[in-house]
Amino acid sequence: MAATKKVFIKTFGCQMNVYDSERIGEALGRAGYLATGRMEEADMVVLNTCHIREKAAEKVYSELGRIRQLKAARGAQGKDTLITVAGCVAQAEGNEIVRRAPVVDLVVGPQSYDRLGDLIARTRQERRPLVETQFPQESKFQRLPERSRQRRPSAFLTVQEGCDKFCTFCVVPYTRGAEYSRPVAEIEAEARHLLEAGARELTLLGQNVNAYCGLGPAGARFSLADLIRRLARLEKLERLRYTTSHPGDMSDELIGAHANVAKLMPHLHLPFQSGSDRILAAMNRKHGIADYLALVERLRAARPDIALSSDIIVGFPGETEADFAATLALTERVGFAQAYAFKYSPRPGTPASRLGEVVPEAEKMRRLARLQALLGRQQTSFNLTSVGHIMPVLFEREGQRGGQVVGRSPYLQAVYAPGAVRHVGALLDVEIVAAGPNSLSGLILEPRRGGHDAETRAVC
Ligand code: SAH
Ligand code: SF4
Ligand code: F3S
Repeated sequence: MAATKKVFIKTFGCQMNVYDSERIGEALGRAGYLATGRMEEADMVVLNTCHIREKAAEKVYSELGRIRQLKAARGAQGKDTLITVAGCVAQAEGNEIVRRAPVVDLVVGPQSYDRLGDLIARTRQERRPLVETQFPQESKFQRLPERSRQRRPSAFLTVQEGCDKFCTFCVVPYTRGAEYSRPVAEIEAEARHLLEAGARELTLLGQNVNAYCGLGPAGARFSLADLIRRLARLEKLERLRYTTSHPGDMSDELIGAHANVAKLMPHLHLPFQSGSDRILAAMNRKHGIADYLALVERLRAARPDIALSSDIIVGFPGETEADFAATLALTERVGFAQAYAFKYSPRPGTPASRLGEVVPEAEKMRRLARLQALLGRQQTSFNLTSVGHIMPVLFEREGQRGGQVVGRSPYLQAVYAPGAVRHVGALLDVEIVAAGPNSLSGLILEPRRGGHDAETRAVC
């Protein structure tokens, strides 16, 4: 269909929302919408939202306030603007969104993106807000159109969605539903498509990705380790990653894959949330500190240079100074390459939101600052260990400054190097010359031998 209208998509939240936004863009492309980076010229605005913490959810309403003015201004020029709220706030709040923000025309939960074209047509026809938050029986993935051929060196690929863990603080089991693993053949077809379009690295996504258990060839069940081994056989693929993992689902087989699948990168995001067994039990995390430390040991035995990252919550109800000190101690003991620390945010409908012993906001802030200071020091010292080393970097884009390209090290560090657009998409050896808290600087060396396509070899 010839593109006649423009769509502006704004993404909040996690990588799965980034992936979903791409798919939404592709589905809308087929419905005749061309993507734009300027909201003012958009005939349709899509907010792909996140409900994980209160701040994330509230951002959506302040954005909708701005959009209301924009819609009015465009309306005065005789232009119509369709406002869609997608993602986890859509799923969690449904009708409430239309009540609070009547400017919204369509509310669509993550399980219904394959039906966006129809839903938009219905919204236009019926001229009233539509709210679609069903969990259909059939997987949306089977009905989403084929991937478009956008050239991108590193691509996300959702292999699993939903969560059955029910940590007491978390909305994800409600916004994304029960765990669902896509069949292997479907994932492999999408992987091939992304690689044909220029991807060199794939990050397999799932809210609980290491619980992946998908239908393989001849009816066999594939674990994430099986899937990784299978995808690693794809010739054009140079690097594989996966996120996010739950410590309870880290199998020996998956740990083993870090030792013997060369394309699997030495990095793992493994949230531990708290360093106190008492708080972990109240969080319903289903693992203790000893389990986590044993896991780290096994991972480091399998892959000594593995870089670990994590998510940590401070100020969960009932968290004492001693519990928090235990979180600092665990952080010290493991030594993370990078980690996110969050202030606990009570979420409607979750069991933890009904707990007493609320930690005062000022105390949460103090704990967050102390933890973030420690994580900052760890991140800087991890980055400093890279200086003087040569490492392969997959360059993903040009930098803001001219004459500079940005890529990722095997350990997921951002690496800046002098270079040009022709380096984008290439996996090149880089000598790391400097490190800061958030990134490395390096110099591109001669092309690596083997494994590169002709275009990459022609670079240097
Ligand atoms: N599936 C992933 C992470 C999902 S959400 C996992 O199991 O680890 C990403 C992170 O947000 C979580 O790891 C947690 O640290 C944080 N988070 C989730 N709910 C939160 C809440 N109510 N308040 C503060 N942080 C929260
Ligand atoms: Fe949320 Fe816990 Fe599931 Fe992660 S494992 S998505 S934190 S319920
Ligand atoms: Fe947010 Fe939903 Fe992801 S709540 S973190 S966008 S799964």
